[in-house]
Amino acid sequence: MMSMSNTRLDNKTALVNGASGGIGAAVATRLAAEGAAVVLGYHRNAGAAERLAAELAAEGARTATVRADASDPEQCAFLVDRAASLFGPLDILVSCAGIEHFDTIDALGSEAFDRIFAINTRGQLLLAKHTVAHMRAGGRVILTSSISAQRAVFGHTLYAASKAAVEAMVLNLSVELGRRGITINAVAPGGTATRMAEENAVHYRHPNLDLPLDQWLKIHGALGRLADPREIAGTYAFLASADAGYLTGRTIQVDGGHF
Ligand SMILES: NC(=O)c1ccc[n+]([C@@H]2O[C@H](COP(=O)([O-])OP(=O)(O)OC[C@H]3O[C@@H](n4cnc5c(N)ncnc54)[C@H](OP(=O)(O)O)[C@@H]3O)[C@@H](O)[C@H]2O)c1
Repeated sequence: MMSMSNTRLDNKTALVNGASGGIGAAVATRLAAEGAAVVLGYHRNAGAAERLAAELAAEGARTATVRADASDPEQCAFLVDRAASLFGPLDILVSCAGIEHFDTIDALGSEAFDRIFAINTRGQLLLAKHTVAHMRAGGRVILTSSISAQRAVFGHTLYAASKAAVEAMVLNLSVELGRRGITINAVAPGGTATRMAEENAVHYRHPNLDLPLDQWLKIHGALGRLADPREIAGTYAFLASADAGYLTGRTIQVDGGHF
């Protein structure tokens, strides 16, 4: 049962993209629990998005679902327009949709580059662009990076680069959006227990040591474990709130003390 006692986001409207899975679902749940009306953006997993919408509605939240492929520029525009037409001007954008990628340089090519950057980088930029067109002063844009943007992992070049670009976009967009009274930040999660982490655990190995992920985490993390998605969602909710009104252009690493 989620608590409805924290109403920090009462009367706020939010679009959460990637809300059918992992971190995005936890963020949507948290924003709704804090009082926001939440549009859940998803791509393939309609069942998960509809189930979450029904759960949130049963708790008294105003929700809707919209399907869009974040790699398609027209669908990014459609998602934002649909969200705004459902709930009015958007106060909060959370962009969580993303895909993982591992490959070594000999196998990297333009197809993989375009596919990863289309979702992880261009999709996030276009959602921000279309959302701020509907946003008033006080708006909050929160994109998703990864600690991989700042930490080397074997074979992670394209994914890490796609996320590092997000951090640079946030830094530079903060200057122009600041003039409109809108903040823009990114969250860079560390390893978090989601489908993405489960599917890719096998790749998070030191190239010269045969260590499974749980041991790798103990060596590289102060807390020595994966995050629960809810432990990441709290930082998005903080950035969405009035408490973060003077925080912009930054990427917040929520990584259990990764070193
Ligand atoms: N889990 C980690 O350890 C970790 C660490 C650092 C950063 N991150 C970042 O955190 C974000 C969320 O990751 P997660 O672990 O929660 O992943 P996840 O469980 O795999 O969920 C990914 C979400 O992205 C959506 N998505 C994927 N491709 C899409 C597309 N083309 N268009 C629209 N939506 C799309 C999925 O929607 P459908 O399923 O409906 O298609 C799903 O809702 C990602 O940006 C990821 O890079 C994750």
